[in-house]
Amino acid sequence: MTDWFTVRWEDGAVVLLDQRKLPTEETYLRLTDVESLARAIEDLVVRGAPAIGCTAALGIALAADRSPAETPAALAADVESARERLARTRPTAVNLFWALERMGRHLDKGLANGSSAPQLRADLLQEARTLVEEDVGICRSLGLAGVSLVPDGSRILTHCNAGALATGGYGTALGVVRAAVEAGRQVSVLADETRPFLQGARLTAWELAKDGIPVSVITDNMAAHLMHQGEADLVIVGADRVAANGDVANKIGTYGLALLARAHDLPFYVAAPCSTIDLRTATGADIPIEERGRAEVAEFGARPVVPEGVPVRHPAFDITPASLVTAIVTEKGIARAPYGDSLAALLH
Ligand code: MRU
Repeated sequence: MTDWFTVRWEDGAVVLLDQRKLPTEETYLRLTDVESLARAIEDLVVRGAPAIGCTAALGIALAADRSPAETPAALAADVESARERLARTRPTAVNLFWALERMGRHLDKGLANGSSAPQLRADLLQEARTLVEEDVGICRSLGLAGVSLVPDGSRILTHCNAGALATGGYGTALGVVRAAVEAGRQVSVLADETRPFLQGARLTAWELAKDGIPVSVITDNMAAHLMHQGEADLVIVGADRVAANGDVANKIGTYGLALLARAHDLPFYVAAPCSTIDLRTATGADIPIEERGRAEVAEFGARPVVPEGVPVRHPAFDITPASLVTAIVTEKGIARAPYGDSLAALLH
């Protein structure tokens, strides 16, 4: 039982834990219009692929709730402009598009059935809430599926935050950690700090510490040394999109970790719900990589760390080739190479 939540519908508003303020402040934002919600996704108030999907689904419900439309067709037009805005927030996490498509199919069904505008509003809200609830259940199933990969005593290295904060609740990579703990395994976590936005230091450490799961934060450049010293047994990360061939897009730095794991003969696991697997994207080369702005790289906290006028690069994600991935854990079971076959089999 946690005393906090990532995203929720409450009395006509989408309520988000403001992840930019963690770990020092636990504050919630109440968003009552789609533009503010879209900006909250862009500004990383809420982040992590499944959580972005959940938020977008609630965003569609919010658009319908706020729309003054009296006819189904007018309501559908308002929902479509919200969909279009939300789809422009972040390009890499496929869960965003998956959730928007699911909400779109639900609306189409209601329109085809001749539902009234008030009925459509109620149905869209119900569907979005169901999607969020299902996400928690999916993470729990995924966690259970991954327990067999985590021997007692494991020291688990993770990157970014693929926890309850990145999902409707429980988490993917951290869902496997939680399920291992619930199964009685003694495990500990090494959380990569994850420059530049520090999801590992600020968020992974926060939620694991809240649950009493042993966690130590390392800076990203310590991973190779600690692996060499024999201080990590396996790596588990989340994913923003898994291509049909098993290539994985995840937070920048993941590819480097996968190379390090291979060099040190450690398993490299990816934990992702089926909604993150995108069979329509053939390989990692086809996954759009978000480029974010200068400030997150050029500043540490609010302090400038790059001389003015010197450009920075900021690809927010990278692609880990399938050949470096030991297994992909989903709520439907574990996929192994060749991923072209195993992922397609899982999804059908
Ligand atoms: O930029 P972010 O914080 O949205 O990136 C998040 C990640 O890369 C996560 O590892 C991924 O979305 C999986 S979350 C279960």
